[in-house]
Amino acid sequence: MTVIIAGPSPGSRKVAEGISTVLDAELVYAQSKVFPDGERYVRVPEDIDDDVVIVQTLSPPQDSSLVEAMLLANASKGAGASRAVLVAPYMAYSRQDKRFLPGEPISIEVVLGSLASSGYDAIVTVEIHKEESLNFFPGKSINVRPYKYMAEKISPPSDTLVLAPDLGAIERAQQFAEAIGAQYDYLIKKRDRMTGEIVIEPKTIAAKNRHVVIVDDIISTGGTIARAATLLLQQGASTVEVVVAHALLAGDAVEKLKRSGIRRVYAANTLPPKHDPLIQYIDVSSIIAENLKQIL
Ligand code: R5P
Repeated sequence: MTVIIAGPSPGSRKVAEGISTVLDAELVYAQSKVFPDGERYVRVPEDIDDDVVIVQTLSPPQDSSLVEAMLLANASKGAGASRAVLVAPYMAYSRQDKRFLPGEPISIEVVLGSLASSGYDAIVTVEIHKEESLNFFPGKSINVRPYKYMAEKISPPSDTLVLAPDLGAIERAQQFAEAIGAQYDYLIKKRDRMTGEIVIEPKTIAAKNRHVVIVDDIISTGGTIARAATLLLQQGASTVEVVVAHALLAGDAVEKLKRSGIRRVYAANTLPPKHDPLIQYIDVSSIIAENLKQIL
């Protein structure tokens, strides 16, 4: 019988528990520790004789979470697992998916290649930055897109205007909007690749007196979403809410979002929660479990 192993990275346990409930599968918690010199250690149950599903989101500190994920695959195969499936609700390094500047790495190629060589046969992730990146993983992979599910849970009115912060995120806005029968559009975002500075350019969108929901994959520093919200409120939007798959919320992101006038951020629980009334988490473990059934 398949065993679900909850990895030690922050945010993994709740998802592992949700998956094991839906699949009615045995759940165990991996042992872990950090040696005095900073190296990581994990241990899984001995005598595994079937598939294992290792739930280890690649949450900050991403590099440690990644190393633990790799060690868990090796430990599980060594304990007899026939196949190792990684559930990584947040796939770190997925935004560096090409060489934007000469001399840069394709970081997600390195990450997915390392996960494969450490023993994973399949990967399930939630809303990787670009789905094509999964081609860097040689085994089976599934990218779970959470926006329809989140729209059903949030259930905003159908006269909501749904916006992507840039053209690259339009499909995300479309999936959310179609689930509630709303209109959708996109803003124009430009990022300076040297400084990281973001500019959201004004675009005439019928936002006046509208409830607006901005849909994106990630909030990291909050710069993209805060600038978009400020612009929309200046254009007369009545309220601005945000839906994201991954709320990384680095540094002072929560304060930045509050200052921009955003009323609420809805985030999937792919990362550990930040306890602030601005952020409401939606548990997506059931849709991950449904997708896992295709592999198990
Ligand atoms: C970029 O392509 C992503 O989809 C996000 O819009 C971006 O990573 C968000 O970063 P930040 O919150 O730092 O602006």
